[in-house]
Amino acid sequence: MTIIKTISDASIAEAADRLRAGELVCFATETVYGLGANALDGKAIAKIFEAKNRPSFNPLIVHVADKKEAEKYVVMDARARAVAAQFWPGPLTLVLPRKKEGGISDLVTAGLDTLAIRVPAHPGAQKLLKAAGIPVAAPSANASGEPSATTPRHVVDSLGERVPFILAGGACTVGLESTVLDLTQTIPLILRPGAVTAEDLEPLIGVVEYDDGNTDKPRSPGQLIKHYAPSIPVRLNAVDINQGEALISFGPVTFMGIRGGGAAKDLPPEKIFHLSETGDLHEAAANIFAALRALDHPGNIGMAVMNIPARGVGIAINDRLKRAAQGR
Ligand code: TXA
Ligand code: MG
Repeated sequence: MTIIKTISDASIAEAADRLRAGELVCFATETVYGLGANALDGKAIAKIFEAKNRPSFNPLIVHVADKKEAEKYVVMDARARAVAAQFWPGPLTLVLPRKKEGGISDLVTAGLDTLAIRVPAHPGAQKLLKAAGIPVAAPSANASGEPSATTPRHVVDSLGERVPFILAGGACTVGLESTVLDLTQTIPLILRPGAVTAEDLEPLIGVVEYDDGNTDKPRSPGQLIKHYAPSIPVRLNAVDINQGEALISFGPVTFMGIRGGGAAKDLPPEKIFHLSETGDLHEAAANIFAALRALDHPGNIGMAVMNIPARGVGIAINDRLKRAAQGR
């Protein structure tokens, strides 16, 4: 049985004890749920890879309570300090040169000499990291290849008994994984788009480029992997629906038709998921993984997704949808 506890002084203390003892603890962050383990303990980290069925070449993000803690494990230059001052705690991960003496397990970094690190903003995650007093490596709490989990229910559906303990902190408010910003190159590179965008970062550190992994040598190993894919086909930028398809909508569906007859507005609830009826991109981001999970059942032959504008956090939503559409 998976133990699920809401956040209290007692559950935080229990979760912190479990982490220090080398066990897995799943916890809420503002982005997605994380599957955490002590980043200093190779045996504990191995349990993460096993539970998720994650390829060992894909490194993990280390979570710490604040910037001072981060500096124990990575070298922060002026650019790193500038973005950390503005966006930590928050949905931004920095890839920085790793300090060997920090003692982070080689399994966490998959042998790279860089380390991905972030300071989560969720109050439960903050309390947990302070109580544990150790760096916590945590990938998204889903089986490798599936959409990330944004509620405790998703975690149980995806990982089941493989997760012994969940510190439940509600539905994630951001809903998409953190922006991964590589600061080890001359030009800062976004390896994974998220709620913090290039536009947000450029006033602080100058030109920022996107590396979507479609190069000969992707810098982020995670970009190599099939990701976020439901078990049924996902069709993007739909302007109408095929018979048997479900719809992920954005904005009004008043004028959307079903080929062969019918209107989207008359679809039964199990065939339609509204990301945001008002066309709000942040609301859509918070709902996207829940939508991909909710409509993924044998009664639907596929999912049609309406166009989502590629601006602001819409860039990150489109990145995840593009990967979802590539299949498993
Ligand atoms: O929002 C998030 O970042 C969530 C929550 C739990 O914090 N975590 C998360 O972890 O999304 P994960 O493991 O699902 O994704 C980490 C991504 C992967 O694409 C991985 O390849 C990349 O970060 N990554 C990790 N370390 C890296 C490094 N040293 N250099 C480049 N990419 C790295
Ligand atoms: Mg993940």
